[in-house]
Amino acid sequence: MDLFGASVAPIVAFFLLGELAVLVTLIVAIILARLHKGSIHHYLVLIAFLSDSLLFKPLMLSRASSAWGSWPWDGTRIAPHLLVSIVAAVLGVLAVVLGFRYRVKKGSKMFLPPKGKLHRTIGWLFLVLWLLTFTVGIVIFLETYFP
Ligand code: HEM
Repeated sequence: MDLFGASVAPIVAFFLLGELAVLVTLIVAIILARLHKGSIHHYLVLIAFLSDSLLFKPLMLSRASSAWGSWPWDGTRIAPHLLVSIVAAVLGVLAVVLGFRYRVKKGSKMFLPPKGKLHRTIGWLFLVLWLLTFTVGIVIFLETYFP
């Protein structure tokens, strides 16, 4: 099928558009956290993180194996892409655990007390590594379909 002017397999189009949706959802979730809308932040970030980790990333790994062979995918950037995404996923799990550990609920509102600072730090680190993974993924896409 046609995606951004390139002819790609439907599964590639699915996970690429899925990752773009995850990116937008993460950005909105972080803006909401900055605006102290902790409750909506936590729903959005959970949807983004879980759909990314349980659906789109496994589909990418399966596509890497079927289309590019096995580890370490010599001559491609897939191995560093995968390794950074694993570290990001670990930080994401930590951010989720720390969010639940430190959050304070008052009615429909959700806050982080000062000791929840670690959640913010790990959350930002996760975002930086997630964006790095995303950028390398886009570079792989461009190099493959627009050589
Ligand atoms: C991958 C998952 C998550 C990431 C990456 C993440 C990231 C962040 C970041 C970066 C901030 C600080 C934003 C700022 O600089 O002000 C933040 C704040 C916050 N997060 Fe998360 N978060 C995640 C999951 C969760 C979960 C699961 C919960 C609750 C169970 C939660 C609750 C909160 C709350 C209450 C705040 C403070 C909002 C405020 O300032 O009032 N987060 N999060």
